[in-house]
Amino acid sequence: MTDTPICDFVRAYAASGAARLHMPGHKGVPLLGPEPFDITEIDGADALYEAHGIIRASERIAGTHFGAHTFFSAEGSSLCIRAMLAMAVSRAPAGARVLAARNVHKTFLYAAALLGFEPVFLPADGYLSVSVSPAAVEKMLRQGDFCAVYLTAPDYLGQIPDLAPIAAVCRRYGVPLLVDNAHGAYLKFLSPSLHPIDLGADICCDSAHKTLPALTGAAYLHVAKDDRYGFAENAKDALALFGSTSPSYLILQSLDRLNAVLKTYPEQLAAFLPKVEALKSTLAAAGWTLFGREPLKLTVDANASGYPGTALAKHLADGGVMPEYSDQKYLVCMLSPQNSDRDLCRITDRFGELPQKPPIRTAPPPFLAGERVLSVREALLSKKTRLPLSDCRSRVLAEPSVGCPPAVPILIPGERIDDEAIARFRFYGVGTLSVTENAE
Ligand SMILES: Cc1ncc(COP(=O)(O)O)c(C=O)c1O
Repeated sequence: MTDTPICDFVRAYAASGAARLHMPGHKGVPLLGPEPFDITEIDGADALYEAHGIIRASERIAGTHFGAHTFFSAEGSSLCIRAMLAMAVSRAPAGARVLAARNVHKTFLYAAALLGFEPVFLPADGYLSVSVSPAAVEKMLRQGDFCAVYLTAPDYLGQIPDLAPIAAVCRRYGVPLLVDNAHGAYLKFLSPSLHPIDLGADICCDSAHKTLPALTGAAYLHVAKDDRYGFAENAKDALALFGSTSPSYLILQSLDRLNAVLKTYPEQLAAFLPKVEALKSTLAAAGWTLFGREPLKLTVDANASGYPGTALAKHLADGGVMPEYSDQKYLVCMLSPQNSDRDLCRITDRFGELPQKPPIRTAPPPFLAGERVLSVREALLSKKTRLPLSDCRSRVLAEPSVGCPPAVPILIPGERIDDEAIARFRFYGVGTLSVTENAE
C-alpha cells in the first residue's frame, strides 16, 4: 500500500468510469469541479467510524507523524471536542464536572449541554488569552472531583500555556488533560515539538485545516501513546456519536494527501520560520507591539500604536492583505509556509504606511464570572429570544451570542447579564444577545 491509500482508491474509482448507482446524487459529474472525487462509503472505500481498510491505514500513517493514536475528523475540531469530552464524561457519568480555562471555543459549551456535564472555570484574567498556572489547576483538583481538565492551547491570540507542568499535575491527580489544539497542528513539526501530546496531554484535537495545507473541515483527534484512560479504543464511537454518517471523502483525501506532505514538513517549516521571525523583527523595530509566543501567528496590540485592531485590519484588507481576526485591541494574522515571500512583503509594506501614534489606553472591561442562574445545559436548551444589548440587563444569557471568529464566550450561558457583562459585549462589538425567554 502507498502512503496515500484513500487518494489512490478514489482516483482509481474515478478513472474506472463505473456507473454510480450510489450516493451522492451528482454521480461524479462536475458542477463545482471536484465531484468526480467526491464519493461515499462504497465497497472498498472503508467507513470512517468503522475503519478497517484504507481510512484506518491512512490514520495509522498520520499517527506515525504525530506520535499518537490518530483519528480523522471531516467535521473539524468541533467534532473532536465533543468526542473527547464524551469520553472524559463517560468516566464519571453522574454529576461529571470538567475544569476548564474560560477562553474555551463555544463548542465546549455545546458539548456541556449535549453531554450534561458541569463546566467549572478557572478564574480568568482576560478574554481570548488567560493565564493558567499549574498551581491554580492543582488547587482546584485538590478541592473536587473532576473527570477532566480542559485547556485551549494555543489560544486565538497565539499564547500557549506551559502545558508540561500542568500535565504533570493532572497525572498526579489521575485526571485526564484534554487540549483544544485547533490552532496548533503544526506545533508538532517544530524543533523541539510544542505539540500538546508531546507535552503530556492525554488527548487533543488539531484542526489540520487551520495551519496545515488541508481543506476546511479536516481535523485530527490524537490520543497519547500511553493512553492511560483507554481513549483510543473508544474514539471512533465517540466521534460517531456526533458526526455525520456521510463524511466528506474530499476532506478525507485532503488528510490522506497531507500524510505525504508531513514527511518533509519539518524542513518546510524550518525554512519558513526565519522569514516570519524577520517580519516580526521588522515590525517590532518600527514600533509595533507583538503578542503571543506562537511562531506562525502574528498578533499585534494595535492600541499600543494608537489604532483600534479593527482599523488596522481594515487598512490591511484595503490593500489586499486579509487578516484572520481583529477586535478593539488586537489584530491576528495566521501565516504558513504556503504564504509566499510576496505575501510577507505586502504585510511589511502595509504596516509601513501607518505612522506610530500615542497609545490608546482604554483597557477591555475585566472578566468576572457572572451570577449563575441556570446550568449551561438548561440555558442552551431553553426557549430563547434575541434582544438588543441595551434591553438585556438582568436577563439570563441563553446562547454564547458570539460568532466565529473567535467564537469564545464573553459570558457563559446561564449567567445573569449585569452591567459589566454588557460593557464587555459592547467592547467586543456584540449588538444583540440570545437570552432565555422567561426572565428568571
Ligand atoms: C480555539 C478553537 N477551537 C476549536 C475550533 C473549532 O475548530 P473547527 O473549525 O476545526 O471545527 C476553533 C475554530 O475556529 C477554534 O478557534
